[in-house]
Amino acid sequence: MSRRDIITLPDPLLRQVSKPVATVDASVRRLWDDMVETMYAAPGIGLAAVQVGEPRRLLVIDLAKEGEDKKPLFVANPEIFWESEQVSEYEEGCLSIPDFYEMVSRPSEVKLRFLDRQGAAQELHATGLLATCLQHEIDHLNGILFIDHISRLKRERVVKKFAKAQKLGKL
Ligand code: NI
Repeated sequence: MSRRDIITLPDPLLRQVSKPVATVDASVRRLWDDMVETMYAAPGIGLAAVQVGEPRRLLVIDLAKEGEDKKPLFVANPEIFWESEQVSEYEEGCLSIPDFYEMVSRPSEVKLRFLDRQGAAQELHATGLLATCLQHEIDHLNGILFIDHISRLKRERVVKKFAKAQKLGKL
C-alpha cells in the first residue's frame, strides 16, 4: 500500500466523468488499498479514485470513529436506483477542497447497487451519514463536487479563492 497525492480544486480532473471498471481484479484492489491509506492519513471518511488521479468508478468510505476498529467499505461501479423524498442536511467537506465546509441537503436515504471487493454484486440501503457520504462520493465519479449543491455566491467565492491560491503557488 502506498499513500497517494490528493488532487485539489481547480484541477480539471475533478470535473471528469470516471469510467466503470470492467472487473474487480488485483489492480483495482491495489488502488483501493492505496485509497484507504490515503484517506486515513488525510484524515477523511470517504475518497473517490479520481481524487488520487484515477478516473475510475471506485470509492472507499469508512465512518468508524477515532478509537473504533476500522471498517472500510469498498465500492465499485455504484448505481443509485432509489432515493427518499425526505432530505437531510449535513455539514460537508471534501479532501479536494481543503478547509471549506458548508451545509448540504441531500436525500436522507438511498438504495444502490455496486460491486464489492470480491467483485460480487451487492445492494445496500443506506441511511444517515452513510447515505450522505455515498452520494458525495458518487457525485465525484460524475465530475460533481459538493460545492455544486450550495449557493452560487458561496461557490464562486470558494472557486475564486482556490484559483488564486493556485496562481500564487500555495497549493
Ligand atoms: Ni469529496
